[in-house]
Amino acid sequence: MKIQRNVSLKSFNTFGIDVKAKRFVSVNHIGELIAVLKNHPSDLFVLGGGSNILLTQDPQELVLHINFKGIEILSKSDNKTKIKVAAGENWHDFVSWCLDEDFGGLENLSLIPGNVGTAPLQNIGAYGSELKDCFVSCEAIHVKTLDQVTFYKKDCKFGYRTSIFKEELKHQYIITHVTFELSHSNHEIKTSYGAIENELMRLQIENPTIQQVSQAVINIRQSKLPDPKQIGNSGSFFKNPIISSSDYDMLVDKFGTVPQYKVSDNEIKIPAGWLIETAGFKGKTFGNYGVHDQQALVLVNHGGASGSDIYQLSKLIQSTILQLFDIQLEAEVNIL
Ligand code: EPU
Repeated sequence: MKIQRNVSLKSFNTFGIDVKAKRFVSVNHIGELIAVLKNHPSDLFVLGGGSNILLTQDPQELVLHINFKGIEILSKSDNKTKIKVAAGENWHDFVSWCLDEDFGGLENLSLIPGNVGTAPLQNIGAYGSELKDCFVSCEAIHVKTLDQVTFYKKDCKFGYRTSIFKEELKHQYIITHVTFELSHSNHEIKTSYGAIENELMRLQIENPTIQQVSQAVINIRQSKLPDPKQIGNSGSFFKNPIISSSDYDMLVDKFGTVPQYKVSDNEIKIPAGWLIETAGFKGKTFGNYGVHDQQALVLVNHGGASGSDIYQLSKLIQSTILQLFDIQLEAEVNIL
């Protein structure tokens, strides 16, 4: 374990923003992590998979890259298998491993960028599944006291793209391992959300396996979402806003059909992508950055954009949406 100087973070964030870490360290196991935390208790910037962050400046702190690896089967009972995964494992590689081993539960979350350790922070979700559906617990270490704590599902306060680690305990703990509970037979197949059924029909599959559901999700994502290896992006830049039913009725009066997902009897979630597209931003480019042409919720770096360029664009989108629809969009991505 060595502290490196002036390291480009371009390959450590999916937006591909070329900022520099004055000091950078990658830790491979808990012993190394504890050594770093002991020596730099208040001077750290923790980097996970870099898939949910917009870097607008050079981090002044020591950049800590969590690189723990390993997948361990803890127990098997009835139809459940508990699996403990190290924080630095790539999320999609882990999902692919589960599918190879025929463990079910995470297939709808295929191809989400990022690492296992950061997935609980924002309770990643897609196509009718969320991380919390299969989550048992995570192990984390307090950055100052070095206490090692296990957080069970009930402790994590999971919500729509949020958890206790993004709110009250923000920057206080580093997640080192996550334990999931997955099915190993009679898998529950979830196909009712979004375009999955249509995609399976197109593939002429009637009773899909978890592997086929995963393939359908991969096909849909690849058709709508840019591959960060080719075009820098961080998935959805904003959360889908939740508004009251009465505000929704007013929107419909003004704009006609407005897509929606029902959240509760009097709350409705509106796709931010629809708001941004209706405001005319879809596919717009501003030099080397812009809004993706297949999904308006995704801001893109076509190569060489700065974090502050993209941040300014996000501010312009927010103020336009506020003016047009009286809705405040909230960034889903963390901004440094
Ligand atoms: N829409 C538009 N224009 C657009 C994009 C979307 O009008 O450019 C409208 C359409 O009516 C479409 C609807 O929005 O039917 C829903 O679009 P989509 O199915 O792409 O889903 P989303 O609500 O935009 C959410 C997640 C995605 C996740 C998909 C599928 C959030 C913020 N985003 O997007 O998550 O993949 O559902 O489950 O909740 C991510 O978090 O990085 C991410 C990609």
